[in-house]
Amino acid sequence: MLNGKTIILGVTGGIAVYKAVELLRLYVKAGADVHVVMTKNAQQFVTPLTFQTLSGNSVHTDLFNLAQEQEIGHISLADRADLFVVAPATANFIGKVAHGLADDLLSTSVMATKAPVLLVPAMNVNMFENPIYQRNQDQLRADGYRMMDPVVGALACGWEGKGKMPDPSDIFDETAQFLVPGDFCGTRILITAGPTRENIDPVRYISNYSSGKMGYAVARQARRRGAQVTLISGPVQLTPPEGVRLVKVSSADEMYRAVMQHASESDVIVKAAAVADFRAAHCAQHKMKKGQSDELTLTLTKNRDILAELGQIKDAQILVGFAAETEDLVANAALKLRNKNLDMIVANDVTDPGAGFDVDTNVVKFLYADGSIDSLSQRSKDAVADELLDRIVSLRKGD
Ligand code: CTP
Repeated sequence: MLNGKTIILGVTGGIAVYKAVELLRLYVKAGADVHVVMTKNAQQFVTPLTFQTLSGNSVHTDLFNLAQEQEIGHISLADRADLFVVAPATANFIGKVAHGLADDLLSTSVMATKAPVLLVPAMNVNMFENPIYQRNQDQLRADGYRMMDPVVGALACGWEGKGKMPDPSDIFDETAQFLVPGDFCGTRILITAGPTRENIDPVRYISNYSSGKMGYAVARQARRRGAQVTLISGPVQLTPPEGVRLVKVSSADEMYRAVMQHASESDVIVKAAAVADFRAAHCAQHKMKKGQSDELTLTLTKNRDILAELGQIKDAQILVGFAAETEDLVANAALKLRNKNLDMIVANDVTDPGAGFDVDTNVVKFLYADGSIDSLSQRSKDAVADELLDRIVSLRKGD
């Protein structure tokens, strides 16, 4: 997702430095080339070696280090950045930048860069509330620097209040907005995810092994790319991505009603949910007793096929289905693509260890209405989601 992007991660001296290590890991995992610049105080909390090992690049600490100057130099360091992030940024550092003071490598590089700069403050609540700090922060915002607000919580100094550095995953999401194409801005996308549950009695249900990870990845990436996302989710153990409208459902019937309610206001629909094909013909009002018989016969009734109905009513919408198969992957997926009148179907063989329901990776084939097929090797569900969104962009352009 961040392949080919260069991020300079500035780290100043505060207890939150340990969270910057996790942030670096997220950037590297997303494919970014990260160069870390540490202030002298930051090195009191975590050694440069930690950042060096995780980034695979030497860590910059010294304004007048001849070796580093020759190799990169603070100006070229600033020039090569697609994005400059300072996390954590202390009150002192923010004060320095707000007043144009450049007395070490990090403050010099921030002042010299033409790249967008994101400052992520972390400090004691009283320092945060101090009017001097607030003035500096307002000044930097007015000058075009992007600043995240610290979050409320228990602070290392013993105080409670606003001052904690946000979670690395939230900083990552904020940063992604600078670097990821905004090609879904203005696009309304409806995504379904997870399994459905079909009740048999008040304590039992029929369901499947879907974890919802693939659908949630599509929702997360679409949001990062600027889409207005409605996520209709069956019961899952996942945190919904920031900024999406979440509609929680349980049964296939509830999912049907939620999808139909939102379908007409969507430009793109991605049906990643594993919808139960059948439900109990009669849901018992009370817990069923096992009784004397060694067998129990349940009568099941077919659920409505949500995707097939969407295929019947679709107009200019892009409609994408998923096909989780255990045999004849391409033939089965192609049949669903045709029968349900889809623009594209994402087929995966769930018996493949890298493509199962509960794993973080997937191995998929994209099948199109014109008969063409496009295969991806194993990659993270986030990366698959991005590839899927790239293909939706092409379909919308008519490529
Ligand atoms: N789907 C749906 N409503 C259903 C069943 C499936 O919207 N009642 C959607 C799924 O969300 C998925 C696609 O149809 O995008 C294919 O689902 P899948 O379970 O693989 O196939 P089925 O059509 O149910 O066929 P089968 O179970 O026979 O493989």
